[in-house]
Amino acid sequence: NAMLPVDALGRPLRDLRLSVIEACNFRCPYCMPADRIADDHGLEASSRLSFDEIEVLVRGFVRLGVSKLRLTGGEPLLRKHLPQLIARLSRIDGIEDLALTTNGSLLAKQAAALREAGLRRLTVSLDALDADVFRKLSGGRGEVADVLAGIAAAEQAGFAPIKLNCVVQRGVNDDQVLPLLERFRGSGHIVRFIEYMDVGTCNGWDASRVVPSAELRDRIHARWPLTALDPNYRGEVASRYAFAGGAGEVGFVSSVSAPFCGDCHRARVSAEGRLYTCLFAGEGRDLRAMLQQGEAAFSEHVAGLWSRRADRYSELRGARDVSRKHVEMFLVGG
Ligand code: GTP
Ligand code: 5AD
Ligand code: SF4
Ligand code: SF4
Repeated sequence: NAMLPVDALGRPLRDLRLSVIEACNFRCPYCMPADRIADDHGLEASSRLSFDEIEVLVRGFVRLGVSKLRLTGGEPLLRKHLPQLIARLSRIDGIEDLALTTNGSLLAKQAAALREAGLRRLTVSLDALDADVFRKLSGGRGEVADVLAGIAAAEQAGFAPIKLNCVVQRGVNDDQVLPLLERFRGSGHIVRFIEYMDVGTCNGWDASRVVPSAELRDRIHARWPLTALDPNYRGEVASRYAFAGGAGEVGFVSSVSAPFCGDCHRARVSAEGRLYTCLFAGEGRDLRAMLQQGEAAFSEHVAGLWSRRADRYSELRGARDVSRKHVEMFLVGG
């Protein structure tokens, strides 16, 4: 289709990450530190895109080439009637992949309903197995046992494989890496280790806490030999490695040590309907007014915005003139 836009660096738009809510029941220090984000943080429900608006928005993005949709938050399972939204989105022609990222704390109750609504893929954040480390990493709000129960319920509901994302910070949870694999290696689920990034402005990021993926990979390889796998698709964010003996795979997301902006086909939209063309963008563009004009006008408008996109923050990180003002992670869901 000749109408599909590419951005200023020649990158098509394939992947939409849509936040359905900006609130979260956790306060992970790297994302929503409790001393900076109020307990009751969140918009009035009426400031969020309605399900009707979201449906028009997603259909508009499909016209531009999006076939992959990931729902995020904050914590998406806090959004009321989420299964109803998923049912509507899963019926949209052109959405080939519908996934959701959750902290897992409310999953035990909701997994079956999400599956029945048409959700096909699930990613659960899991930064530690140890109960105390986990509690600390959730800002004192979460219990790892609830998340493990959520993963078990999701498994029961038919989600397989489930991806388990662990953001690794040196001296904080890097001792959890091998235990996480010990537990999930061979389970059919896929653990992915994510380099701690300088997203947002409130997490007090410190480069010395980043554990480069190469270092982790060596550490894991010494225990369980790994062999590199090819990407599942062009622009896959995680690099994949197989354990010997059919015990599954492990992934690494290395946006600090090995940026992947060249193949970045992702747009992000916040719960209130702002478009961010990069995880590190300072400003979003309000799409809400355009949504009122209907799917066709909306998609033309977004095509224009996309064609002017030149973001490649991770590749420029450290350069002197790069802006330090970044959207908060909990507004765009990672
Ligand atoms: P799949 O569709 O299963 O391949 O998912 P994914 O790996 O693309 O998505 P996921 O949300 O699981 O990504 C894992 C983590 O990678 C996110 O939480 C972010 O920390 C990071 N990440 C994802 N996309 C980007 C991106 O565009 N730029 C940067 N810098 N980091 C990203
Ligand atoms: N660095 C890397 N990943 C982060 N996430 C949130 N904050 C950061 C950060 N500073 C990601 C985690 C989490 C998802 C919702 O966002 O993967 O699981
Ligand atoms: Fe909530 Fe996820 Fe941010 Fe943690 S990382 S505070 S679970 S949105
Ligand atoms: Fe895409 Fe921005 Fe991430 Fe680069 S830093 S991969 S442009 S979202």
